[in-house]
Amino acid sequence: MNSSDNQNIPDFQGSMKINEKNHLEIGGVDTVFLAEKYSTPLYVYDIDLIKSRLSEFKKAFSIYKKPTQVAYASKAFSSLALYQILVKEGVSLDVVSGGELHLAIKAGFPAEKIHFHGNNKSHQELVEALNYNIGCIVVDNFTELDMINQLTSLHQKNINILIRITPGIEAHTHEYITTGQEDSKFGFDLTSGQAEKAVKLALECSYINVIGLHAHIGSQIFETDGYQAVIERLMKHAKQWNKETGFDLKVLNVGGGFGIRYTKEDEPLAIKDYVSSIVKSVEKYAIELEIELPEIWVEPGRSIVGEAGTTIYTIGTEKNIPGVRRYVSIDGGMADNIRPALYGAKYTGILANKVYAQYDTTVSIAGKACESGDMLIWDLSLPEVEQGDYLAVLSTGAYGYSMASNYNRLPRPAVVFVENRQDFLAIKRESYDDFMRLENPIADSI
Ligand code: LLP
Repeated sequence: MNSSDNQNIPDFQGSMKINEKNHLEIGGVDTVFLAEKYSTPLYVYDIDLIKSRLSEFKKAFSIYKKPTQVAYASKAFSSLALYQILVKEGVSLDVVSGGELHLAIKAGFPAEKIHFHGNNKSHQELVEALNYNIGCIVVDNFTELDMINQLTSLHQKNINILIRITPGIEAHTHEYITTGQEDSKFGFDLTSGQAEKAVKLALECSYINVIGLHAHIGSQIFETDGYQAVIERLMKHAKQWNKETGFDLKVLNVGGGFGIRYTKEDEPLAIKDYVSSIVKSVEKYAIELEIELPEIWVEPGRSIVGEAGTTIYTIGTEKNIPGVRRYVSIDGGMADNIRPALYGAKYTGILANKVYAQYDTTVSIAGKACESGDMLIWDLSLPEVEQGDYLAVLSTGAYGYSMASNYNRLPRPAVVFVENRQDFLAIKRESYDDFMRLENPIADSI
């Protein structure tokens, strides 16, 4: 059976399908079987879909004459096993903390393919990055530039850097706007001249190799105008700075932000359309400005893992207020997916144990945390739902597990990878013992 046979069933991505038992199947594995084997809440990742998204990026960039890098943005979801897959896929990695860097090194990620981001990298994190000889640091502010200069001079170590620019362009889902004030905690702004000053200062540092510029204009973007605008702005400034300082734009990193489908209302572009628009803009401005084509780097997170992730919950209690609303509770919620509570993010769900049915019930899916705001999905159309059913919430692969917490001492869910009819436990479910491992009882003497 196919999801389009029933208009209440969302469009399935990747290897998702309905099997002969009328269960949701991912990667050839029955999600009801997974729920029973690993318990719930359970994050399930379709590895084949992750790989095909990566190859879409790589294929789309193959039209470009200069080297390109697709650096997966770890913040969307990181795990040792995912990093191991990414190593095999030959992509680069964007990390934003010593923690992500540590995990990447443990997974055997080639250090030269790692880029380090963040607006407040600590002294310790910078030392770690230099010791591992990572590929590049994306420098965010003058304090950091100074710290890197001191550390590289002290240890006589070279490091590649990109200068992060706040370009005064912000992209939202369906539009982009130019923001005059460039008011952001990230990067150097163009208007006040701080970006130019940073480039000049960095060029004077003996062990710092300024290879290019970086900008990230937002997330869940559904059009290409914002990328085109940022490319124009950065390349024009690069040309100007080249005249004034000899700065050479070898790398242009336009960040991530490519949108995905959470619900039927979302209409993202295909990856090849984002990429070809970026490539065309860079080529156009290189000709117009008479500068050499730079390498193009991107940092997709959500578009690689978002639609590949599905969360399976067990339906628990319910509360029906006649004429008002029917609340149905699940065994997870804001602790494993903060996005609805934090951003008002919309998701869709289906019953994994009876997918194809009459969708004649409307319920609101409540999380289990002690917060009225812990509502995962409002007004979801479902088949008749009862305690013990399994709810599959789709497109939860990005910023779900990675933003999970232990609020109310709820253990973080397990994460399972599925591919070719096999399941693999990538991250174990947190246990009460895991909580206790960090606790110190007060000694009698205190
Ligand atoms: N590069 C930089 C510098 C970023 O700040 C981000 C995301 C990315 C790349 C990856 O963006 P993506 O391709 O995943 O859109 N927690 C929010 C999203 C925060 C995004 C932060 N930066 C959410 O759940 O929607």
